[in-house]
Amino acid sequence: MTEVFKGTKPAARIAGTGHSVPDKILSNADLEKIVDTSDEWITTRTGIKERRMVSRGEKTSDYCIRAARQALNDAQVDPIELDLIILATISGDLRFPATALIVQNAIGAKKATAWDVSATCSGFLFGLYQAEMAIACGRAKKALIIGSEFLTPMNDWTDRTTCVLFGDGAGAVVLNDTSDERGILSITNGTNGDQCDLLYCIGAGTAGSFNSGEPSDGEKYLRMNGNEVFKHAVRILYRTAIETVKLAGLEVADIDWLVPHQANIRIIQAVAERLNIPMEKVFLNIHKYGNTSSASVPIALNEARRDGIIKDGQVILSVVFGGGFTWGGAVVRF
Ligand code: ACO
Repeated sequence: MTEVFKGTKPAARIAGTGHSVPDKILSNADLEKIVDTSDEWITTRTGIKERRMVSRGEKTSDYCIRAARQALNDAQVDPIELDLIILATISGDLRFPATALIVQNAIGAKKATAWDVSATCSGFLFGLYQAEMAIACGRAKKALIIGSEFLTPMNDWTDRTTCVLFGDGAGAVVLNDTSDERGILSITNGTNGDQCDLLYCIGAGTAGSFNSGEPSDGEKYLRMNGNEVFKHAVRILYRTAIETVKLAGLEVADIDWLVPHQANIRIIQAVAERLNIPMEKVFLNIHKYGNTSSASVPIALNEARRDGIIKDGQVILSVVFGGGFTWGGAVVRF
């Protein structure tokens, strides 16, 4: 019997996933010793119990390379077959060249063109968007998309409103061209640059004192107005979810799993409630990793597939939101 699929016909499918996180665990109890906070406050206000933390001497590319190899192995794709490597990060190894090139060299993807994408927590879906477009218009057949962040080095460990939220890690997917019914059914993204002051990190950017040769300590850290970001996040994630599902030619009721950006359990619950998606259909790993920005969704996808939670043929909706603001959504049939 022929299976009948609702929705659009995909050009590209996720053929493999992988992830890599640091071994070092920073628990809420550990944070209680650093700032005036409690396990109870962090758990109830964010859903986070622990996060992974990189060690001195490690690099973003180390995690990207491990996640990439896992995804390639899962997809049974040889690195030489890759046409594209797109790496989403706001915490690359160097100011330049792009970390994607370091990965390209390490895995031996000699035929690929590689670049980095900077779109904060939405970076992975921005990379997926670019790769899907390239495959859909026939410019590529196989792409590696990675989301990877070192956020704990950007933490101001005296600011309890931010340092409890973030974690480190990397996730990757391999995207193949397809003539199958399984794949990316719709993908959306957007930005709104008038909210940059709500969530940012100056770092070695030209807006900071780095330019005058006097990098200030405070500029190294991530800054966020959490309450404001929270309100925008719920509204934008909901709107993005509705638009992305509609573009796929589906209803919210057709979604088997919501795989959202893991930023705050209360944001996720508020969005799921508005969408009328029960929490049993929401994949969560925020308790283990906190907010890993662009690594959040690919880590979640890999865990959900590896643990048999997302099954072949099921449809997932992923929605992301990040500083800037940036946002994106994808509906994918596995
Ligand atoms: N421990 C204990 N108390 C705390 C902590 C803490 N870690 N942090 C804040 N508080 C206190 C505050 O000082 C405040 O105390 P007060 O009432 O005496 O003034 C009280 O708790 C309430 O603070 P709020 O900021 O109102 O707490 P809220 O419930 O809004 O939670 C949070 C803060 C978790 C930051 C939330 O606003 C949030 O998740 N925002 C969104 C973050 C996000 O989604 N970012 C996404 C993008 S990330 C990216 O792009 C890199």
